[in-house]
Amino acid sequence: MTDNKKTATLNVDGKTYELPMFSPTAGPDVIDIRKLYAQAGVFTYDPGFTSTASCDSTITFIDGDKGELLHRGYPIDQLAEKSHYLEVCYLLLYGELPSAIELEDFENRVTRHTMVHEQMMNFFRGFRRDAHPMAIITGVVGAMSAFYHDSTDITDEWQREVASIRLVAKMPTIVAMAFKYTVGQPFVYPRNDLDYASNFLRMCFSVPCEEYVVNPILARAMDRIFTLHADHEQNASTSTVRLASSSGANPFACIAAGVACLWGPAHGGANQACLEMLREIGTRDRIPEFIARAKDKSDPFRLMGFGHRVYKNTDPRAKVLKQSADEVLELLGVEDNELLQVAKELEKVALSDPYFIEKKLFPNVDFYSGIILEAMGFPTSMFTPIFALSRTVGWISQWKEMIADPQNKIGRPRQLYLGETLRDYVDIENR
Ligand code: SDX
Repeated sequence: MTDNKKTATLNVDGKTYELPMFSPTAGPDVIDIRKLYAQAGVFTYDPGFTSTASCDSTITFIDGDKGELLHRGYPIDQLAEKSHYLEVCYLLLYGELPSAIELEDFENRVTRHTMVHEQMMNFFRGFRRDAHPMAIITGVVGAMSAFYHDSTDITDEWQREVASIRLVAKMPTIVAMAFKYTVGQPFVYPRNDLDYASNFLRMCFSVPCEEYVVNPILARAMDRIFTLHADHEQNASTSTVRLASSSGANPFACIAAGVACLWGPAHGGANQACLEMLREIGTRDRIPEFIARAKDKSDPFRLMGFGHRVYKNTDPRAKVLKQSADEVLELLGVEDNELLQVAKELEKVALSDPYFIEKKLFPNVDFYSGIILEAMGFPTSMFTPIFALSRTVGWISQWKEMIADPQNKIGRPRQLYLGETLRDYVDIENR
């Protein structure tokens, strides 16, 4: 960040304070308030962090007005079209697109770390079969710190690298195992002769009774979904990972915290909630009823898959996923999928409705992903686990960036206290 010598003038109780400002390479300037409390004895107030930059970062940039998403400067639509997930993982982790040799080495390292400790299978077996896969994954990812002690020392750069590769490599295996466990089928080991997305599909859908042949179209669609969900600046789950990491907790515990946060329906749980909403709508003639509910302030219902804290015109990922939805459903021969028709009609109706135009609400990344995943054969309970799998590299990249920052310190927000002031204890006989 450049100290552009610009300052912000703040007047509190008749005293004036000059606060330094910094300019980014892209996006809004920031006002440095780190010394505000010491100087002026006041806090800033920003629940939900709508106007707060929690860190500086070089990984992902979002322009909410333009609907632009860049990973290390490369636009998401170009990466989705021309790159593939493991190459995007390399870009997010190391900052540059890899050479052919660097990519081959990286893919080999990931491929050869896809198996999980055999003892972890017993850990899975402690869960009820009807557990939500996200409940299992939250537990198993956190438990990785009980199996991989030799990559938990965050002060050791080599151990940080090993933990990063292990997490990128093992998340598909863990997510597939959670799926198999909940459907009562045997776990499937990863294969080193398959690419990342094909390996995941095979671990999810193959059974011992017959050979599983990967459909290259599905593998490409799966890889594209991974890429589109890889990282997204300081979203709620990434901020959770950063805050957990700021205490010095081990990487597996911090990523488990990110998984837990992502699960919420306002965040990564929206893809499951969106498909369940489309199913509840059922037919296109019921769309007006749900649009009315979404606009009714007395009704807590929201159109799942619509709206975004940052994007105020379009979510570039939704545009790519909408195109993929058409391709995948056509290639799978899933003609006039009623859910997709409802989704497209809902999008059209919502985007022409003054309420949604005024509130700048439009489909986000979760709106179309569920339709593709369902067409690929995944139950809705697997939508958020697949989001968590994809986002693991983003969480790790942000974690590595933060740990390596010499200014890194424990995150400790303050508050606007509205509770009782000092009062004496009252004995129970006097209450
Ligand atoms: C993700 O941050 C990220 O980057 C997240 C993510 C990532 O990649 O990490 O992009 C992934 O989480 C995408 C978002 C998935 N969530 C959903 O689809 C759930 C439905 N969306 C809403 O819950 C909501 O839009 C949020 C949570 C996404 C954004 O909420 P904000 O920015 O806090 O906005 P808000 O709740 O203050 O809403 C602003 C107004 C409100 O009306 P008023 O109080 O001003 O009258 O818009 C209304 C809201 O009622 N509104 C909606 C709505 N979303 C907002 N009304 C109906 N349906 C909706 N979906």
